[in-house]
Parts: sequence; structure tokens; C-alpha cells
Amino acid sequence: MVPKQTNDNGNKGTGERFSSSKGFILAAIGSAVGLGNMWKFPYITGENGGAAFFLLFIACLIAVGLPVLLAELAIGRAGRGSAASSFVKAGGGKVWGRLGLISVIAPFLIMTFYILVAGWTLHYAIMSFSGRITTDVDFNAQFSSFTGSYLPLVWAFVAMILVAFVVIRGISGGIEKFNKVLIPGMLALLVILMIRSVTLPGAMEGVSFFLSPDFSKLTPEAGLVALGHAFFSLSLGMGTMITYGAFVDRNQSLGSATLAVGAGDLIYAFIAGLIIFPTTFAFGIDPSSGPGLVFVALPAAFSAMPLGWLFGGLFFTLLAIAALTSLVSLLQVPVTYVMEKWNWSRNIAVCSISLLVFLVSIPSALSMGLIDIEIGKYNFFDFIDFFASNWLLPLGGLIVTLFAGYFWKNAAQEAGLTAKWFRIWLFMLRYVAPILMVFVFLHSTGILKFE
Ligand code: PFF
Repeated sequence: MVPKQTNDNGNKGTGERFSSSKGFILAAIGSAVGLGNMWKFPYITGENGGAAFFLLFIACLIAVGLPVLLAELAIGRAGRGSAASSFVKAGGGKVWGRLGLISVIAPFLIMTFYILVAGWTLHYAIMSFSGRITTDVDFNAQFSSFTGSYLPLVWAFVAMILVAFVVIRGISGGIEKFNKVLIPGMLALLVILMIRSVTLPGAMEGVSFFLSPDFSKLTPEAGLVALGHAFFSLSLGMGTMITYGAFVDRNQSLGSATLAVGAGDLIYAFIAGLIIFPTTFAFGIDPSSGPGLVFVALPAAFSAMPLGWLFGGLFFTLLAIAALTSLVSLLQVPVTYVMEKWNWSRNIAVCSISLLVFLVSIPSALSMGLIDIEIGKYNFFDFIDFFASNWLLPLGGLIVTLFAGYFWKNAAQEAGLTAKWFRIWLFMLRYVAPILMVFVFLHSTGILKFE
């Protein structure tokens, strides 16, 4: 076992650390780049008019996402604890520790449906490689009969085992090594698929949909969707970046890590857009066809192109990797919490939480067609997604901005910025981010409506 060690703040830490700056940054990019980039980003961009929405997303990422990302990493590194206790250990009162609990529960809930979608991607990768995505298939019916069966649970179980297998090996031996291989691997897959996609006949219409902005399409609503997505995409408000921050070396510049993670997230989303829009336009598919875009519309496109089984297989493998590297960061959050709180060993923590995630994912999986499990107007799957992404995530983000902006005496020292950048950072945390977060919260929970 790794001996407990005291860090430079005098706080107890687990003693585990990322072994290199590169390893840490790749792990954080792995967390950020996920189904959000490859599945959600393309369809919300499609629904909100394309290029103008993409620019809005970039603005939100820079103005609000990056300051909050830096705050999360700094709180984690100063506290060297869990997503809850780090607030207290970094110098906040006990109440912050309680508020921080939101950021331990949220990733657990997110995992329960994220793991299902990760399972879908594995299933589709195998289907495609084995030549079962062919032009004579009704992809809508195929998707609903798959999600309405028990099979997604089998795949979710496989995905959970893969994730647990990585996290059980620890920060540098598991999470860091896994990301060091897979993040460059993902980039290679993205580039191959992008080249395939932009060279399809008719692809340029898709490229221009994605890259030439029509500002008349922008609405206040689109602004809030873009901001909410910038948060989700950078893995904020979920305790993951606080948790990763707790394992970062003192000498790491958090400012440059923040920029690298933001740039990484953006680049991967950009290339994903350059895969999805040219393909959809080339095959006459409506890019605003919603969540089914990736699992219904794209298989139709792959089935109709030469070597489609190969490109489809690679595409779903890419999605699976993106999902798994995000899931390892999500799992690490409650694992860190129980290891610290109840002194559980890593093995016990990982196995029990993974099992619990799988068990809680069962009602979500069944609610997709096998059993009617409804909460309000949502089925169970959509309800957990809605509650975690629209309630807990903005609240978690708000807690971070308020703490770092108003209540954290050591903020300047821990963030390690120059005086000028520190003033800008503080301004964003105090006045811009919290106000916008409140709007996102009110809008995404349905309290604020635009007519
Ligand atoms: N950032 C991930 C994505 O874009 O898919 C999702 C995510 C991972 C959200 C980890 C939150 C989190 F803590």
C-alpha cells in the first residue's frame, strides 16, 4: 500500500500522484473528451443552426469554462482530498464540504446512464465490424429493438468491468497509462474518419453548415444550451477535475494545464463535427435529427459507403474510447471519496461502487422499452440524465465559482497566475460565471422559459 503522506499544506493526501505533467493533461483531456463531444455536441449544434452555435460554444468555453476548470484543479490540488473534503482542506468552512457532496453524487448518477451509452457504442462497433450494418436494415427499428432488450445491460456490464479494471490500478498505474495510449489513439481515429468524411461526394455542404455561421439562428436559448454544454464537455461541476487536481504535482502550472485541456476538448469536438456533418449531408440526413443522429442516421450512412463496415466500426470504437476515458474520471470521484472517508482500500472501493453503478443503471436500461418506469414526464433513463446534468451540474459549478471567487483566501497563491490574469480570472468567477450559471440552471430545469 502507498503510505499516507502529508502534502505541503499540511493536509493528509493519499500520496498518489500523476507521474508526469503530460500524463495528467492527457487524463484530463480524456475526461473532457467524451460522448459529449462525439454524440451530444454534433446533434445540439445541428439543432441550433450549425456554425454560429459552434462559435458561441467556443466563447462559453473560454469565458466561463476555463476559469471554472482552473478553479476546480486548484481547489483539488490545494486540498488533496475528495471532491467534497478538498473545499474544507483547502481552507473553506465545513459547510463547503457538505455542499461539495453534490459533486460526489452527481458523477455517480451520470455514470449510471453514461455506462449504458458506452455499452451501445461497443455493441455498434461489433455490429459494424461483423458486417451487420447493411443497407437493407431499418436503423430506427434496429436501434429501438436493441435499446428495448436486455442486451444493453450486458454491454454496460462489459463497459463497467473495463472501467473498473483501469481505475483499480490507481492514478499513475491505471488512469494515466490508459489515457496516454488512448488519447493519441483517438486522435488518429478522428483524423482517419475526418479524411473519409470530407472526401465523400457532397460533403462540402456539411462542412459549410458547420463552418459558415448564420447569426440569425442564434437565440438566448442557444446561448444557454452552449454554456451548459461547455460545462458538461469540460467535465465541470461533477467533482472530476477537483479529484484529478488532488493528484497533481505542486510544480505543474495549472494555468497551462487549463489551456491545454480546453484546447484539447475543442479540437476533438471540432474534428468530430468535421466527421459528422459532411457525412450527414453527403447522405441527405437531417443534422438536427436529435439524439438518434449517431445511432440511427450515421449507421445508415456507413452502410451505404464503400468499406462502410470498417469506417463504421472505427467510428463506434472511437466513441467507445471517448466514453471509457470519461468514465474512468467519473468513477475516480466516488472512489476517492470512500477511500478517504471510510478508509476503504482501492480494490474494495472500485468493486463496490462499480457494482452499485451497474445496479442503478438497470432501471434506466429497462425504462428504454421493457418496463414503464416513469418519473414525471421522463422515463427513468432521461430523468437521471435530466436531474444530474440540469440540476446537479450547474449547482456543482456554482458552488465552485462562489467558493473560489468570494470565499477562498488562498485563491491567488493556489492558481499561480500573474497579477493581471488573476484579476481577470477572479472577475469571471465573481461576476460572469455565477450569473450565467444561475441562468443555465433556471433554463435547463424549465423554470425560465423563452417564448
Ligand atoms: N466531458 C464528458 C463528455 O463531454 O462526454 C462528460 C463528463 C465526464 C461530464 C466527466 C462530467 C464529468 F465529470
